[in-house]
Amino acid sequence: MYEKFEKRAREILAGLSLKEKVGQLNQAVVAMEGDDIEKYKERVRRGEIGSVILCNSPTAGNDEQKAVLTDLLNEYQYCAVEESQSSIPMIYGRDVIHGHHTVYPIPLASACSFDPELVRDCYRCIAKEAATEGTHWTFSPMMDLCRDPRWGRIIEGLEEDPYLSSQMASAMVKGFQGDDLSDPYSLVACAKHYVGYGFSEGGRDYNRTEISDYTLYNYVLPPFRAAVEAGVGTVMSSFNDINGEPVTSSKKYLTAILRGQLGFEGFVVSDWYSVSQLKQQGLAENEADCTALALNAGLDMDMSDEHYAHTLEELVLSGRVSEEVLDRAVLRVLKIKLAKGLFERPYAQPHHVDRGEHIELCERLAAESMVLVKNEAGVLPLSKDQKISLGGPYIYERRCHHGSWALDGYLGASTPNFLEAVREVMGERGELFVTSEGLHDDSNYIFSLGDTVVLALGENYTDTGEARCRSNIGLYPQQLELAKRAKAQGKKTVGVVFCGRPLALENIEPYLDAILIAWHSGTRGAHAAARIIFGDYEPSGRCAVTFARKTGHIPLYYNVTATPREVDGYYGIRPSSSYVDSIGTPLYPFGYGLSYTKFKYSDILCENTEISMEALKKGEKLCFRVKVSNVGEREGVETVQLYIRDVKASMMRPLRELKAFERVIILPGEEKEIAFEIGKGSLGFYLADGSYTVEPGEFEIYIGENCLTHNKVTVKITDR
Ligand code: GLC
Repeated sequence: MYEKFEKRAREILAGLSLKEKVGQLNQAVVAMEGDDIEKYKERVRRGEIGSVILCNSPTAGNDEQKAVLTDLLNEYQYCAVEESQSSIPMIYGRDVIHGHHTVYPIPLASACSFDPELVRDCYRCIAKEAATEGTHWTFSPMMDLCRDPRWGRIIEGLEEDPYLSSQMASAMVKGFQGDDLSDPYSLVACAKHYVGYGFSEGGRDYNRTEISDYTLYNYVLPPFRAAVEAGVGTVMSSFNDINGEPVTSSKKYLTAILRGQLGFEGFVVSDWYSVSQLKQQGLAENEADCTALALNAGLDMDMSDEHYAHTLEELVLSGRVSEEVLDRAVLRVLKIKLAKGLFERPYAQPHHVDRGEHIELCERLAAESMVLVKNEAGVLPLSKDQKISLGGPYIYERRCHHGSWALDGYLGASTPNFLEAVREVMGERGELFVTSEGLHDDSNYIFSLGDTVVLALGENYTDTGEARCRSNIGLYPQQLELAKRAKAQGKKTVGVVFCGRPLALENIEPYLDAILIAWHSGTRGAHAAARIIFGDYEPSGRCAVTFARKTGHIPLYYNVTATPREVDGYYGIRPSSSYVDSIGTPLYPFGYGLSYTKFKYSDILCENTEISMEALKKGEKLCFRVKVSNVGEREGVETVQLYIRDVKASMMRPLRELKAFERVIILPGEEKEIAFEIGKGSLGFYLADGSYTVEPGEFEIYIGENCLTHNKVTVKITDR
């Protein structure tokens, strides 16, 4: 994809001095005020800065970030293009993770939509808003598979299933990059954090990881493989080590696997200060060691610590780093700059972007991301003519809806709070009684006035994101108290949970008749939640992540292999005996979610229950059909899911693996037939050496509403 820029890149490279080459690999933190600006311009004129990171702190998602100063960026770019020797434009990178001025659901929530096409359209809108103001490159999407929701960065990922996260990663890359990277509305995307960061031990951020190659290839790498296939322009290396080998200095991960096996052609940027962190990790004594280890391993651009800028020229002159290795990295950077069209169009031309469509798509994705996990006796949807008591800590909140990593989100009236949204959706109908802000000490009285109590629950966005892990992922105690008060008055209670991770809801679940997981769903999150509970929208989200009953059950994920003892539940556990003090099964399993209607599945129709290995290798497929009927009174959206189980193989294989899904709208009384075709690419697995294999034998195929479906057929791959 980027090879076509090789020739031009080589011509540019040929004209560069050693110092200028080093400058291309240096990503410096932007200077935005005072006399730092003039000093920065001088550095740019000397060719010392090839890229600028547009942020002003190490944890950009947690700290207030200054807005993108487009005019200043154009001034810096002028210094590079018109006043430096090489005239090479700089590339500007920013954390445009899940929105710019319009903020979309956190990526974890978007994955629950099971709607990659909509996600792609939304990320196209994000790119437009950010690119217009001068950002060229986003440090997104993050695709770290995570099985431990104590980890704060689970919000940013695409979760526990390799297939779903691959579909979402590909959609986000294509949304950001568009059909043409040089389009002024496109952003260069960045697959991060490569690799294994989501396995941080104990759910503690920045921690070590132990990942076997077998797990790496079959669970952790697939979304990166998909991102590379989607043409992602950059990859960000991760802070962590894997089994004692820091990724930052690993030829195995950064070159042999990423380039040799996945075929990545773009460039690798470090994470913040991760080159310098090789000292903490005990592999380097000084800046020169860090630089030599990282660049020789295949890490092309150094973010923020400027170790490359300080030491690389000397390292090349001394021969510790070959000029060939240096040139290789510079060529990769130049090819992406050429692909972005920076040489033809180095300056931003800010102009107004109509956010109307963005807002509409943002609300749609928020609604599709929300998961109805409980609805006893049809408490939902509510009637707008009802008397509703509204309470909970998140009715007045705005910022929480943006989640972490929303550097440029418009707040104020642009992001309605839940109270405003409920008021707008109810209009002049019904009656609404609202608890006061703060300690909710009027809640007993307010709850006594309504027929139904709606509680806006969840977690602070400040308890999610980078360096924000939780040792207990239950709801905060005062929220349980509110639910108990409502139940004590005999009221129907609805919990709307605005959160950034699959919270452990076992304690509050009995006090809530209905529960909508609303996540931190962005600019229109409050509205989407209000429209769902009043029935303007049908709930359609499905769990992209397992909800454990309690923190002590972590890690708990669906695609496990069998345990040596027979199991009668899935997740590889026997419900009755996994713990003496609690039931170990998930509260809500992967793929689970309710609708306001009911769906009925037919048996699976399978045209060919047997297929030869030879036919598979020729591209023949196994074809399955299932009929899904809407047996309820309302239109609904069902996400039909296909799982496989490789019953006997040379390595242990998961009890269930998601291999296909389809969202389908079905009217009341209507029946629809869904067809799936799966072939070699869905039936095999990776061995520890990275080779892909499909082995003959029996496969169980499941098609149903979530990973626990028993709707199954058995097929056989013959080895002739
Ligand atoms: C942070 C994060 C990374 C982010 C980068 C730049 O530490 O780990 O995801 O893109 O630094 O802000």
